[in-house]
Amino acid sequence: MRVPVIAGNWKMHKSVAESATFARELLPSIAAYESVERIVAPTFLALTAVAEAMRGSGVRVSAQDAHFEPQGAYTSQVSAAMLKGIASHAIVGHSECRAWLGETDERVNLKVKAALSSDLTPIVAVGENLQQYEASETFDVVGGQVRAALQDVEAADMCRVILAYEPVWAIGTGRNASAEIARNVIGDCVRATLAELYGAGISQQVRILYGGSVKPDNMSQYMAEQEIDGALVGGASLDVEDFTALVAIAAREKAAGSNS
Ligand code: 13P
Repeated sequence: MRVPVIAGNWKMHKSVAESATFARELLPSIAAYESVERIVAPTFLALTAVAEAMRGSGVRVSAQDAHFEPQGAYTSQVSAAMLKGIASHAIVGHSECRAWLGETDERVNLKVKAALSSDLTPIVAVGENLQQYEASETFDVVGGQVRAALQDVEAADMCRVILAYEPVWAIGTGRNASAEIARNVIGDCVRATLAELYGAGISQQVRILYGGSVKPDNMSQYMAEQEIDGALVGGASLDVEDFTALVAIAAREKAAGSNS
């Protein structure tokens, strides 16, 4: 059985002090849900403080990006190599980075490989925009992003990679994709692409998350889908009660699914 994942992407929210305080409040609330891989992704500035607050617990800390060069003249960037020992995961290819920072498929691929070689688990975000969705290009776009991100990634490393399907039109809009849409894209496109690239066995081991306006009141429908292994959450991860509710729902639904 694939271990479910709930990852909170705090984006550009919370100062260092606020992040540390929030992490200390969140930890006792989610500590008991050991059947779920719980991840928080604060800003780079707050990584150390949050990692310190979570030390010794099962809660993992992720960076929101990771540059592929170990060091160099890349003003504003933080390398995967620098994150080693501080974070355990790194989000790469987030649509906000693709849109605002000119992130390309090629760079996402370099970042995935750099993360893996620095012992970080990449959480690779893929997803189509509204125009592509309305033009029924979702499978082409998402399948292409998956292939590009994983170019030259060894089969042996794939069980360490997490993928997240985040339709751009659902991020921060309150317009979440239906469970049916998420299941179809995750199963028939993302997992099917993995099966083509790595074989059915490996494709069944990789965790694939849904992201985009996930909230406690719409979470159960996603977790009831066998294909969907968890959620990458923005807004609702900034609130202790909401994030805890998401973790609790994942624990409950996935336990129910494994018994049925
Ligand atoms: P929202 O949950 O705020 O829609 O953000 C999703 C997201 O981008 C997570 O990476």
